[in-house]
Amino acid sequence: MDERVYVFDTTLRDGEQVPGCQLNTVEKIQVAEALDALGVDIIEAGFPISSPGDFNSVVEISKVVTRPVICALTRAVKKDIEVAAEALKHAKHPRIHTGIGVSYYHIHYKLNSTPEEIIERAVEAVKYAKSFVDDVEFYAEDAGRADNEYLARVVEAVVKAGATVINIPDTTGYALPWEFGEKIRYLKENVKGIDKAIIATHCHNDLGMATANTISGVVNGARQVEVTINGIGERAGNTSLEEVAMILKSRYNDLHLTTGINTKKIYKTSRLVSSLMNMPVQPNKAIVGRNAFAHSSGIHQDGVLKKRENYEIINPKDVGIKESSIVLTARSGRAALKHRLEVLGFKLDKKQLDEVYQRFLDLADKKKEIKDEDLEVLMGAYKREDRNIKLKALQVISGKSAIPTAVVQVEINGEEFTSTATGNGPIDAAFSAVKSLIKRKVTLEEFLIQAITRGSDDIGKVHVQIENRGQTYYGFSANTDIITASVEAFLDAIAKVI
Ligand code: KIV
Ligand code: ZN
Repeated sequence: MDERVYVFDTTLRDGEQVPGCQLNTVEKIQVAEALDALGVDIIEAGFPISSPGDFNSVVEISKVVTRPVICALTRAVKKDIEVAAEALKHAKHPRIHTGIGVSYYHIHYKLNSTPEEIIERAVEAVKYAKSFVDDVEFYAEDAGRADNEYLARVVEAVVKAGATVINIPDTTGYALPWEFGEKIRYLKENVKGIDKAIIATHCHNDLGMATANTISGVVNGARQVEVTINGIGERAGNTSLEEVAMILKSRYNDLHLTTGINTKKIYKTSRLVSSLMNMPVQPNKAIVGRNAFAHSSGIHQDGVLKKRENYEIINPKDVGIKESSIVLTARSGRAALKHRLEVLGFKLDKKQLDEVYQRFLDLADKKKEIKDEDLEVLMGAYKREDRNIKLKALQVISGKSAIPTAVVQVEINGEEFTSTATGNGPIDAAFSAVKSLIKRKVTLEEFLIQAITRGSDDIGKVHVQIENRGQTYYGFSANTDIITASVEAFLDAIAKVI
């Protein structure tokens, strides 16, 4: 039978603790509304005692966002709990999240306490929080490194005190997936009264295992996952919401677990959080990274074009991405090039495709990624190929103390001619050399170079305007070498004169 896993989002609390990721109240409301639309069950809106800004954000989010539970964090300290309760007073479904460290390190070196005293403080905190709200979650900080027997005693005591959710954080991201799963199972099997509470996972990603640990926890009986958008959070971050949601969706037939997440809103929410928090998403990030649905090798591109499922386990539309992308690089094959050219409206037969593919590879060797604009230029040059004047070779000398000199070899009506000239720069020298080879007198009237996309490896686009016997002719070319592009554009215009 299907079972529901509750999604507790802590982007606005654990995520927001990251240096540089702080949001103001208006931005936090925007994120909370997006999380509501995404379908999360619980929003941890802040740690009210920590600052007036956090307090205020919890108050304002509680007023505006009414469907999900709004949760506020506290330490196991009376004042924290009172302030959290005050911040939550407008919430339709308020929850106080209180807790204390339970590992040897935390008990002895952080809290300077004893295991028995910690249990007393935990119980006291839960009871006090219960005096304000019904829904109280207890976190056993650093449970990932805590002794299971002791942890079970703590959990039993706080469940008896009224905790409705028991959070088992792997605070330091130390646990191995099966170890973490066994911990959850141990609690399920050894804590009296555990059925009255929901067990939550809260995994950090210090060893890159946050998602694996979370899934292991869920497989072993946890029914709440604490996550953040894009996996942001302390140090290496928290478990990412999008990964867990898509694992449960993609592997539904094996796990039979569901969430309330509208996965089609994942990408949009990811972008919102990334831009508001000034926290770029790594390109290879699962589900939401720029490359998560981008195929670049020829074999993969061919496979995806034949059937998307050959290389994709998730339909990009399911996470709100319009389509997978085929990134054209020097590793792309003819199939990918043909597909992209067809999308752009160029239909080529086999011979034409072979020719254009060679040019594509030449360009791709010079430029890392070939964009649609580059293809348009490539096709433009290909179509102009049958003109009667062609550049065969070009060599230029230029530099700080060199006299700009160009050697140009062109083919005019099938015959080859070579000329050398100097000028005030390499382009001027090359244009003079070309002029000396043609019989007609042409005057350069306009000359314009532009970068097509961006970067120093970009294609330079050149437009020229020349005059002959009172008439204007236009030429165009593009090349990663702007001097070659300039001469080609000049010849393109001249071809219309002779
Ligand atoms: O990582 C952690 O232990 C926490 C608790 C405060 C829940 O963030
Ligand atoms: Zn945490």
